[in-house]
Amino acid sequence: MDTWHVDDDIRLAEGLPASTFTDREFLSRELATIFSRSWQVVTERGEDPRPLDEQLAARGSRVPITVNDKPLFLQRAWDDEALRAFPNTCTHAWYPLVLGASRGPTLVCAQHGRRFDCAGKVISQQGFDTKAMRPCDSLTALPVEAWRRLTWINFDPHAARLETVLAPVEASLARMPAIPERMSAEIREVPGNWKQHAANYLDQFHIGFVHRAPGGLADAVDLGSYTTELYDQSVLQWVYARDPADGFDPAWLPDRFADPKGRRVFALWWFIFPNLTLNFYPWGLSVNIYSPIPDRPDATRFTWYQLALDRAKHAERDRRWLSSQVDAEDVDALAQVARGLKSGFAPRSKFAPEQERGVHWFHRQVARSVG
Ligand code: FES
Ligand SMILES: [Fe+2]
Repeated sequence: MDTWHVDDDIRLAEGLPASTFTDREFLSRELATIFSRSWQVVTERGEDPRPLDEQLAARGSRVPITVNDKPLFLQRAWDDEALRAFPNTCTHAWYPLVLGASRGPTLVCAQHGRRFDCAGKVISQQGFDTKAMRPCDSLTALPVEAWRRLTWINFDPHAARLETVLAPVEASLARMPAIPERMSAEIREVPGNWKQHAANYLDQFHIGFVHRAPGGLADAVDLGSYTTELYDQSVLQWVYARDPADGFDPAWLPDRFADPKGRRVFALWWFIFPNLTLNFYPWGLSVNIYSPIPDRPDATRFTWYQLALDRAKHAERDRRWLSSQVDAEDVDALAQVARGLKSGFAPRSKFAPEQERGVHWFHRQVARSVG
């Protein structure tokens, strides 16, 4: 049995060993398994601040991107609407094919002139017999999908469609108004392994302590109503607001969230394995991604997108939904955990069977996925 096995039974289970949060080798293993088979939201970089879907609107347009430190590019087709993702590596001698955003029916490698069409097929190269080109001389198309203005890619060419992963999320959003625009994006680096941040997100136990009353999240919600729903590749956490004015209009949510006592749902907190959260509030959507940084198991790259549905409420999100406060409290707590881990005396954790179902679910998913 793997040394990081996590039992399916929460009462018997011990969590992932401390070494899996600090070892470079384990991080490489995670990148080669978990992150090579799961859908990843592309977090835009570079000069152009526009969302990717706008940058790639025109036919033949292409944009270089980086996902988990791997160079890729996105390519809009020339003849139809298709969007494709390719490794940004020429098949001749591995020069990057797309150095900056560009557009056109063919792509010409800057090192020795190999030519590709917008579908990634090799067309020709001086010095080579075109008829003798192998299938691997064309580019490998990776699965790419768009969902609510986010662009997702998967390094596994045989990955199941994104909609299979997001089906439970979609069901909870069936009556929610469409969220129209991106307000802001922020990327920063924080201390602690990416798994600490993901597990903490799924941990309802810490709310009464780290986000305690008075003035904390524990005050803004009816903690006794906190619910954790485990799905195949996602987890939903939700809770009723203390003040109904801070909750969702019940018409926006499926009937199962209705409360005979008139309480209203404070937020839908969706976690998508391995490292994405979709946080729906009455003011809009906050997307947060906890990206591992290769070779640096002790740090995580946070990406935040805020998409406002109601601008007035969005402006009040720190006061009423405690957005910045909760975020700062979590970042601080996990910096402390990262420090605690360094003692070399951190035993495998046991889980509180009622309060730590989400954390157990996460540890088990990781253990299975890297095996
Ligand atoms: S590396 Fe692209 S043509 Fe040689
Ligand atoms: Fe928290």
